[in-house]
Amino acid sequence: MNFTDFLNENLPTAPSFHPHYEIALSDMLKAGGKHFRASLLLGVVSALKPRNLAAAMRVALGVELLHTYSLIHDDLPVMDNAPLRRGKPTLHVKYDEVTAVLAGDALNTHAFFEISRANLSSEIRIKCVEILSQNGGASGMVLGQAIDCFFEKKPLTLDELKFLHTHKTAKLIAASLKMGAVIAECDEKMCDEIYELGLDLGLAFQIQDDIIDATSDESEAGKPVHNDSVKNSFTNLLGVSGAISYKNEILNGVKNRLKSLPQGVCDMILELVKKHL
Ligand code: IPE
Ligand code: IPE
Ligand code: MG
Ligand code: MG
Ligand code: MG
Repeated sequence: MNFTDFLNENLPTAPSFHPHYEIALSDMLKAGGKHFRASLLLGVVSALKPRNLAAAMRVALGVELLHTYSLIHDDLPVMDNAPLRRGKPTLHVKYDEVTAVLAGDALNTHAFFEISRANLSSEIRIKCVEILSQNGGASGMVLGQAIDCFFEKKPLTLDELKFLHTHKTAKLIAASLKMGAVIAECDEKMCDEIYELGLDLGLAFQIQDDIIDATSDESEAGKPVHNDSVKNSFTNLLGVSGAISYKNEILNGVKNRLKSLPQGVCDMILELVKKHL
C-alpha cells in the first residue's frame, strides 16, 4: 500500500454531535502535500529493512500528523495569517479560529497515539516517540516557530537565521530520517549519521521554501506567496540568487556525506532532492 492510501484510510475519527469538528481534523490531511517527511522515513525503512515497511506506515503517519498540525497553527491570523494551504482554504477561514487551534492540538497528540500502536517492538516505538517529541516540540520545531514570530521585523544574523530554520524545519526532517533508521534497526552510529545529514537536508528544504515564497505563484505553491516580507527568510537576507547558491552549497555537502551511507538510502534521498529541492 502506498502512503497516501494508508493516510486516507487512517484519518482521525472523533464522532460527536459537533457539526464540523471531526471533518476539520481531516481536511488538511486529505489535501495532501508533498509527504516529504513520510517519504524520507519510509524510504530508509524500504532501503534497509523492507519487512518493517508496513508497520512503519503508522509512524510516518504520526510525522505527517504533527507536521500538519504545525502548518494549521502556522497559518493562524496570529502567526502567518494565511488563507490558503495545500490549495485549500485554511481551517480558520473555512470554519473559525477555535476550530483551527483545536484541530491542530488534536493532530499533535494523535501523532503519538498512532506511533504508540504501530506494529513494532515497544523499544522502537518509545524511541520514535522520543525522537519526534524532542525534534517537533519544545526545543525543536516549536522553538523555531517562537523565534520566527518574535523576530519578525527584527533582522537576524546568518548564524541566528540558521538556528531558526534548523529548529523550525530541519529538526523534524532529520527526525523523520532517524526514525526510519531506528525502525530499520540501524546501530546508533548510523542513526546519528543519518540525523546529522538530515539537518543539512532540512535546512536546504527551508531555503527552498523561502525561494518558493519569493519566486513562485499561489497556484503553483498551493499557499500564499510573497508572505515573508517582514520575515527572517534566506531570500530576504541573501537575495534570491544568494539563497539559491547557499542551498546548492548545502546540498553539495549532503551529496558528499551520502557517499558513506548504504546505496539504497543514498538513491532514495537523491531522488527526493531532485523532486523537491
Ligand atoms: C512547509 O512544509 C513548511 C516548511 C516547514 C517548509 P512542506 O513544504 O513540506 O509542506 P507540505 O506538507 O508539502 O504541504
Ligand atoms: C513554517 O515555515 C514551518 C513550520 C514549522 C510550520 P513557513 O511559515 O515558511 O511555512 P509555509 O511557507 O507557511 O508553508
Ligand atoms: Mg511561518
Ligand atoms: Mg507560513
Ligand atoms: Mg515559507
